[in-house]
Amino acid sequence: MRSRLSHLFLYSRLRPYWGLILVFLLACAFSPVRPGATLPVFLDRDNIIDIVRQVSVRGIIAVGMTFVIISGGIDLSVGSVLALSTVITALALRDGWGSFAAIALALLTGAAAGLFNGAATAKGKIQPFVVTLAMMSIARGLAMAFSHNYTIPIRPGDSNFLTLEEKIFGVIPLPAVFFLFTVAVFQVLLVYTAFGRNLYAIGGNETAARLAGVRVDRYKILTYILCGMLAAAAGVIQAAQMHQGDPKDGMAFELDAIAAVVVGGGNLMGGVGNVTGTLAGSLLIGIIINVLGLRNVEPSVQKIVIGSLLVLAVAVQTGTFGLWGRKIMKQWRGAAAGLFIGLGIAGLMALTSGCSPAESGKYVIGFSQCNNNEPWRKAMNDAAVAEARHYPDIELRFQDAEQKNDLQVNQVRLLVRQGIDLLIISPNEAAPLTPIVEEVYNSGTPVIVLDRAVNTEAYTCFIGADNRIIGKQAGEYAAKILKGEGLIVEIQGLPGSPPAIDRSEGFKEAIAAFPGLKIIHNPVANWLRSEAIDQMKIALQAQPKIDLVYGHNDPMALGAYLAAKQVGREKEMKFIGIDALWNEGIQAVIDGELDATFWYPTCGKEAIQYAHKILQGETVPKQITLPTELITKENAVEWQQKLKPAEG
Ligand code: FRU
Repeated sequence: MRSRLSHLFLYSRLRPYWGLILVFLLACAFSPVRPGATLPVFLDRDNIIDIVRQVSVRGIIAVGMTFVIISGGIDLSVGSVLALSTVITALALRDGWGSFAAIALALLTGAAAGLFNGAATAKGKIQPFVVTLAMMSIARGLAMAFSHNYTIPIRPGDSNFLTLEEKIFGVIPLPAVFFLFTVAVFQVLLVYTAFGRNLYAIGGNETAARLAGVRVDRYKILTYILCGMLAAAAGVIQAAQMHQGDPKDGMAFELDAIAAVVVGGGNLMGGVGNVTGTLAGSLLIGIIINVLGLRNVEPSVQKIVIGSLLVLAVAVQTGTFGLWGRKIMKQWRGAAAGLFIGLGIAGLMALTSGCSPAESGKYVIGFSQCNNNEPWRKAMNDAAVAEARHYPDIELRFQDAEQKNDLQVNQVRLLVRQGIDLLIISPNEAAPLTPIVEEVYNSGTPVIVLDRAVNTEAYTCFIGADNRIIGKQAGEYAAKILKGEGLIVEIQGLPGSPPAIDRSEGFKEAIAAFPGLKIIHNPVANWLRSEAIDQMKIALQAQPKIDLVYGHNDPMALGAYLAAKQVGREKEMKFIGIDALWNEGIQAVIDGELDATFWYPTCGKEAIQYAHKILQGETVPKQITLPTELITKENAVEWQQKLKPAEG
């Protein structure tokens, strides 16, 4: 009896956690150690808490996904439901509903989405993949419609809602507490109730369960409702952490949730899995991301490592490695998974030049970039690196947030854990990045904010050009070339980023003096050329006459140009952009694709210069405004020469 019990305990109960334990140990081994410290940075109390906080939102979704997967289904709509929930919460708060009602409304919305998914699956007999794919699109569409595709800020003064992101006893963040609480409640539900037991029966063999008298449809519907509600609850927490409702949030979260369930021992065929396993899966993934981040491993390598490890873990769990492997796994499934994961990490880390603590005597500057994948940002990074070569006492560490607010917050935390002496940040959007900027600055680390402002005074200095003035000059130039008369398409940048707001307001202010100028279409393309192409195609279909396109940056103006060219209408209209990279916007002016662009200095060089001053103890101005310049055919060649060496 005793040995059977211990067998059960060790192999069955602990199986999903062996992987986690091994990854934990490996993370300790591979984490950098701060100079003078004995313990690895990974083991810092705050770092461990960060990991739990960082996996909370996706983890809560994964708990719901566990139920659905055990029942033999899948829910692809959770990421979109999260986005819808953030939007509903923010709108309700904005309209004065109060926190309680706003949260209740968001949860009800999630439940409604789940009811749709469950009913169509159970009663309508449509495959869950198809139903929830449809809901993924519907919920995203609703989030965009309700918000008009803008982010909706939640202001600290508006209600007590933002207490949801606070820490209890000043240490443990509430999102982490909610996550662990959800795990506990749902594990009990799964293990100790008829509902839970029947779920396994349904997922194991639905027909048998039906014949045994289990009310399959009812349980399935309930499962999807719970999953929808948990996705909505995760959305409420996300809204509190990001200080906004965001129709773009939650992209691909469904895949993260499925990964956590599967790594935690769940099986997509149904009938297998449990919530604590999913907790282990979430933490395991969180730890890998954390330790790769602490070592500043290249984002490209991080993605390859994470993807490979997931496949490995699941391959081991499901016995893909043949008879021999299956034999080991029968008893040692979790351990083998962990071992493979460990070996994978070890190998890949050995291949990557992970960074260790700074060489002594060097200042470490963390550089949090909101999206490397935009030409202007690449130029900013290059300018910073070039300038940093003049300062042998500076070491630069970059992080790329891929235009994701939550990722950028997490990356700033990672940089802080590495023990940076100064933070340079170009925030993706203002509201979600404000709290972390305040936190870092208030903890005594100087912070330089670049190009996109935050909603606080708690930073050391801001460097950037005046976007309102640029917008105004763009409006005046438009009025000049259109001779005060014409129809305008304005293609807008990411709505929650201040340059988009300022460039729009400045432009509108200038053209207000000309009653003959009208903005007839103003889609959002989030700074991206690809989105601008799509938006411009729609504008071209809808508008028989367009006289001018004003893009909030050059990539979007050029995207619009391409779309117009595809239908042979590019000569009919003028194009104005902003940024004026020597090899992009200015070249486009020389080539006749753009009529004008405005020089928007990348501030990479200045950021390093001011960072060095601050690190030397010098006082610097709080607001550093860089110059701008209208560039047209007349001065394009001259400016190309001027900017090439500086920012090229
Ligand atoms: C790059 C970018 C630039 C733009 C700036 C505004 O991310 O979109 O093209 O001028 O950001 O912050």
